[in-house]
Formats: sequence, structure tokens, C-alpha cells
Amino acid sequence: MPTDSAHDFLRSRRSIRRFKPDPIPDSVIERILTTATYTPSAHNRQPWRFVVIKSADVRPQLAKALIDKMRLDMQAEGALETEIEKRVASSIRRIDEAPVIIILCRDVTDVRINTPEENIMNIQSTALAGLQLLLAAHAEGLGGNWICWPLYAQEATRSALDLPETWEPQAIFLIGYSADTPKEKQLKPLSSITLYLNS
Ligand SMILES: Cc1cc2nc3c(=O)[nH]c(=O)nc-3n(C[C@H](O)[C@H](O)[C@H](O)COP(=O)(O)O)c2cc1C
Repeated sequence: MPTDSAHDFLRSRRSIRRFKPDPIPDSVIERILTTATYTPSAHNRQPWRFVVIKSADVRPQLAKALIDKMRLDMQAEGALETEIEKRVASSIRRIDEAPVIIILCRDVTDVRINTPEENIMNIQSTALAGLQLLLAAHAEGLGGNWICWPLYAQEATRSALDLPETWEPQAIFLIGYSADTPKEKQLKPLSSITLYLNS
């Protein structure tokens, strides 16, 4: 791919939050996940794990795990009941409407040694796989959105879906063909976030 096109491709990825109901072929999901596995990782430990949800069956369990915690957290913050119920309804809608849901986990045992720094590297590596997954979806003409919900309900998510004990949920990706038009994004000027020390 010519350099300019590669940059245009990378810059044109956006978070997509509304989807057409069109199904995504299994081969496309497989290709996206395979590309995500090419992500760099500390010590090449490849700590990422993926949980793919397509059918309607497990969505209510997932939604309940996430929403019970969301309610508790919002109540603790003093949110109004109407505000809580609005957020809950919109979250359930998003979980129901996404053609494919991918939960990104890290395997907590995939560290060289159990130190804080190595654990951070395990999480950093997993997060990079999340970006690669979004870009791979973009390459397929799909939209996706990284959502942090499971971070607030890691154990509830793990047990609701009966995931392996060492898999720690980090994020949820809602993936589908876009029915969204994201607003233009305001970027911080490069000059305000970069220091050149070579002058
Ligand atoms: C770590 C992380 C957590 C995020 N959590 C959420 C979320 O909970 N809900 C949501 O709608 N978007 C979430 N996003 C998406 C961001 O809001 C989005 O990337 C940002 O606004 C920039 O927009 P863009 O992705 O279209 O460039 C998250 C993104 C990241 C990287």
C-alpha cells in the first residue's frame, strides 16, 4: 500500500456506535482475530485472549453482569434513578444490537515474572491487540467501538460467561457494519504534545 494511503487508512478509523443488522461472516471474524494476534507483546508473551459472541443466547447474562455493577457504581456516585435507567437501557440496546461482540481479556499468568512492571506490560500488550483488532475490523469495512464496561465488572463478566479463571476481561468491542456518522474529532495539536530534544 502506498504510504499516503496507509496513513489515510489509519487516520480514518473511528469509533462506530450504531450498526446495520447485517451479519458478519465467520471467516471475516477469524481474519480480524488472526491479524490481532500479530500485535507486538512484551517478551512475545501474547497475553491477549478473545471471547466471540454472536448468538442472542449469552447476551442477557453478559448484560446482567455489566449492568448490575453499572447500577451500583452510579448509585454510589449519587446519580438520579432516571439517569441510571437511561444508561442501563442504552447499554442493553447496544449489547443487543451489535452483530458481533468480542471481549478482550488478558491471561494474568502470561507474565515473565509476577512483578507490577511485568503486569503492566501484560496489560499494555493486550491493549495493543485491541487497537490492532479495531484496525483489522476497519480493513474489513467494519466499524467497532472499544468499551470499558468489563473493567468495572471483571469477575462478574468472567463468571457470567464461564471463562477460564486466568482470563481477566479488559474491554468489550461491539463490531458491525456502520450505521453511524461520527462527529469530526478535534485532535490536540502535535506541537502541544511533542517535545523535540534534538535541536
Ligand atoms: C481505553 C478506552 C476505553 C473506551 N471506553 C469507551 C466506552 O466505555 N464507551 C464508548 O462509547 N467509547 C469508549 N471508548 C472510545 C473512545 O471514546 C474513542 O476512541 C474516542 O472518543 C476517540 O474517538 P475515535 O475512536 O472515533 O477516534 C474507549 C476507548 C478507549 C481506548
